[in-house]
Amino acid sequence: MAEKKVIAVVGATGAQGGGLVRAILNDPSGGFAARALTRDPNSEQARALAALGAEVVQVDIDDEASVAKAFAGAYGAFCVTFFWAHFSPEIESTQAGNMARAAKTAGVQHVIWSTFEDTRKLVPLDDDRMPTLQGKYKVPHFDSKGQSDHLFTDAGVPTTFLQTSFYWDNLIFFGMGPQRGEDGKLAITFPMGDKKLPGIAAGDIGKCAYGIFRRGSDYIGKIVGIAGEHLTGAQMAAALTAAFGEEVGYNAVSPDAYRGFGFPGADDLGNMFQYKRDFEAAYCGARSLDVSRSLNSELKTFAAWLAENKERIPMS
Ligand SMILES: NC(=O)c1ccc[n+]([C@@H]2O[C@H](COP(=O)([O-])OP(=O)(O)OC[C@H]3O[C@@H](n4cnc5c(N)ncnc54)[C@H](OP(=O)(O)O)[C@@H]3O)[C@@H](O)[C@H]2O)c1
Repeated sequence: MAEKKVIAVVGATGAQGGGLVRAILNDPSGGFAARALTRDPNSEQARALAALGAEVVQVDIDDEASVAKAFAGAYGAFCVTFFWAHFSPEIESTQAGNMARAAKTAGVQHVIWSTFEDTRKLVPLDDDRMPTLQGKYKVPHFDSKGQSDHLFTDAGVPTTFLQTSFYWDNLIFFGMGPQRGEDGKLAITFPMGDKKLPGIAAGDIGKCAYGIFRRGSDYIGKIVGIAGEHLTGAQMAAALTAAFGEEVGYNAVSPDAYRGFGFPGADDLGNMFQYKRDFEAAYCGARSLDVSRSLNSELKTFAAWLAENKERIPMS
């Protein structure tokens, strides 16, 4: 049997990378092997991946040499950055550059870079529909990824640019689940008006990435957007109502109100939702459900994700 192609996965103990490691391990005859990269190979999550059959290797994406070492001998690499660990676009771009150059050094044949649109292409800094943040960004955690795309091209690594979507898991981990209002009624709150928000089960991102690796060179040099469904706030609320058996409403607040909520990153997320609202056609259009399903036949709808996860959503 031919030797398996090793995929080195950054963020393997996290949402996106973890989904990819499990997708590779769940397909033992697929011809790929998973190398799970982590800062701490002795952590509980890293040891769990080793027990499932992944090779676990230490990495720190702040250190290019450590990434080159961790990528050595790999056919493919999944590259992701962790904006919410530091809130710094500059750190995110530096880390992207480290991974791009390391992939070149290691001779990686296919990189998937988990990225987003640079929103400043449609909302230049002098467009005052939304505030400029950190001096030169509109949506810092998007712009920093988008402005880093060229680092992979410049390094000369064959790359697929994977544009992901809002994780429905944010209802569990990011405090975006239904909250009970003063009237005692449950509601979700997004500044999306009546526009559609592309969403995805976080675990499906890794499965789609695996689908891209399986397609060989088909997606090299291409931008691929993925989502599980495009839903309005009202449609999400209806699905939550059906799942919980209790009415869940939708508060369509203004982006300004959302930016003013005061939690860390509220301004960044307020701008992000406004961008998705104001450019609904382009943003949804860049995330084809058919393409996503062709990459991952198990792609979940919001209702299917809720059926598996509703008990994990904290209810106030
Ligand atoms: N929330 C959303 O809706 C959403 C949607 C699309 C995209 N995103 C983007 O997804 C990205 C985060 O990905 P995720 O959700 O998969 O992450 P995550 O679940 O928060 O996982 C964090 C991972 O970061 C790794 N890590 C942190 N710093 C590292 C470093 N210096 N070197 C190596 N590994 C490091 C950790 O691994 P160890 O601790 O094991 O080292 C861990 O696996 C963010 O940039 C965000 O913008 C989020």
